[in-house]
Amino acid sequence: MPKVTYTSASGDINVLGGNSGDSVMEIAVRNGLPGIVAECGGSLACSTCHVFVREEDLEGLVAMGELEDEMLDGTTEERRGNSRLSCQLKLEADVHVYVETPESQV
Ligand code: FES
Repeated sequence: MPKVTYTSASGDINVLGGNSGDSVMEIAVRNGLPGIVAECGGSLACSTCHVFVREEDLEGLVAMGELEDEMLDGTTEERRGNSRLSCQLKLEADVHVYVETPESQV
């Protein structure tokens, strides 16, 4: 099963497992993880699922679409080179991805 290690802005670390096909956002929300709000439920309409992906994990992820790219320009915490919207990061079985959540999503 896919695993995600979430590190908060204050350094709290949570390692959570999900099912193949889950997104990084879905795994967080299902487990009540603070730091990912996901107001729109994954329909690319809110930008409150912003995460910073560990550099070495970026290449193995689903490529960024045009709309995600545009939405990342409207995040509360400024976009970085490793920013993604976690609702778009669907995971295959057996991957382990590391992400950092921003200090604020809204
Ligand atoms: S949950 Fe709204 S854009 Fe990702």
